[in-house]
Amino acid sequence: MVERYVMSIDQGTNSTRCILFDQGGRLVSVAQREHQQHFPRPGWVEHDAVEIWHNLRRVVSDAMAGAGTAVDAGQIAAIGLANQRETTVLWDRRTGVPLGRAIVWQDTRTAPLVEELRQRPGEEFFLDRCGLPPSTYFSALRIRWLFDHVKGLEQRAKDGEVLFGTMESWLIWNLTGGADGGLHMTDATNASRTMLMNIRTLDWDEELLTFFGVPRPMLPEIRSNAETYDEAHALLPGVPIAAALGDQQAALFGQTCFSPGEAKCTYGTGSFLLLNTGTEVIRSRHGLLTTVAYKIGDREPVYALEGSIAVTGALVQWFRDRLGLISSAPEIETLARTVEDNGGCYIVPAFSGLFAPRWRSDARGVIVGLTSYITSGHLARAVLEATGWQTREVVDAMNADSSIPLKELKVDGGMTADNLLMQFVADVLDVPVVRPMVSETVSLGAGYAAGLAAGYWPDLEVLRRNWHPAARWLPAMDPGHRDSEYDNWQRAVERSLGWTR
Ligand code: G3P
Repeated sequence: MVERYVMSIDQGTNSTRCILFDQGGRLVSVAQREHQQHFPRPGWVEHDAVEIWHNLRRVVSDAMAGAGTAVDAGQIAAIGLANQRETTVLWDRRTGVPLGRAIVWQDTRTAPLVEELRQRPGEEFFLDRCGLPPSTYFSALRIRWLFDHVKGLEQRAKDGEVLFGTMESWLIWNLTGGADGGLHMTDATNASRTMLMNIRTLDWDEELLTFFGVPRPMLPEIRSNAETYDEAHALLPGVPIAAALGDQQAALFGQTCFSPGEAKCTYGTGSFLLLNTGTEVIRSRHGLLTTVAYKIGDREPVYALEGSIAVTGALVQWFRDRLGLISSAPEIETLARTVEDNGGCYIVPAFSGLFAPRWRSDARGVIVGLTSYITSGHLARAVLEATGWQTREVVDAMNADSSIPLKELKVDGGMTADNLLMQFVADVLDVPVVRPMVSETVSLGAGYAAGLAAGYWPDLEVLRRNWHPAARWLPAMDPGHRDSEYDNWQRAVERSLGWTR
């Protein structure tokens, strides 16, 4: 019998990846391509959406060729797509050409607009309506900024000539035919990151649209996360595209956190801790986001509380690419192990302001505690510890918001290969940290959702049985030491606030 697979495409901040999974949730083939990061001004981050579309085509064909014996389209049961969420693309409906580069979720050019929103109508209004506080992080302000800076764009959008999308919209539109009748859609998880969707109705919110001045004709249709949308006519005719999710929601799904109270943290460019809160919309009082976790077909939506940390792995990249203190990311652990501790040094990587739980777009990065004693080893420790302490702040907020304190944290993502860091996370959270056998949980989650929609897997229970632990770190830090270090970290954070005022 010919083997069949699900294809998962993960369009992330740094790269685009295609993975084929078999029925056991095992990885059969993988292909990946990085795209260029554009930093045209301080605080600006852009991607070329056409480069990403070309990369997608390449990784799909490379993954199909790389599975031992070549796989043909008939062996793909369904395609699932995960993506980098809030990144904003506008393109011409008729020609399919993007109107400038995509503005990435890390970009802070809208900071002055955020300050205005905080004054009027204020944080409460947005938290209640869309589950999100005013921040440079989300898409709506980027659309507003483009309207205010590109002549004639707003009118063209009103006339239906311009389309908006996050990366999955752009890619699905291209996969399904582009200017020749491509499907213009998004999914409930990505839409929940725009500040334009009502978190309860899962529809575009008239009042939010009016407030931001975003015309309906440019918006995609909001669909569930697991259903057959259309076929991938432009690339794999006959193969259904059956899932789309934001990458962090996909990771929650891939970690099989299907029950209320289950949480995961994905350690990538940034880090994102999501707690499944079931079908209830829980409003955070401690700086977390209320977001859609997933919606399977016409079933009720499942929600999550999210603690988003903008910069974790991106700090290691900066250490490597901009400071040149290491030549590959894994070397950070080796360098950090050359010293016993941080030597009194703390790095707060507020490159994009601070996200959860503080939401301060006026913060910028600081290094404190420098003395002539500090070596590159101490700095490497401070880089890794910044990820641990930022996780701790988010977990504190989550514990304060929910009645049940976190007992264990499921982790995944590239940084979980760093043992020193994972031990530090367990130490500062004071709970065990566990990594599953398949750590490509973003891709797995998108594949799972597509496979469920296509009948490749029957139900969630089967997926749960595919989850196996591969590594576990237990807390071992002296409580007194933990408390004093946490205090130092918080004092360092205070130094980063208000820098751009
Ligand atoms: O919200 C942004 C986040 O989803 C990006 O994740 O892994 O592509 O950096 P990643």
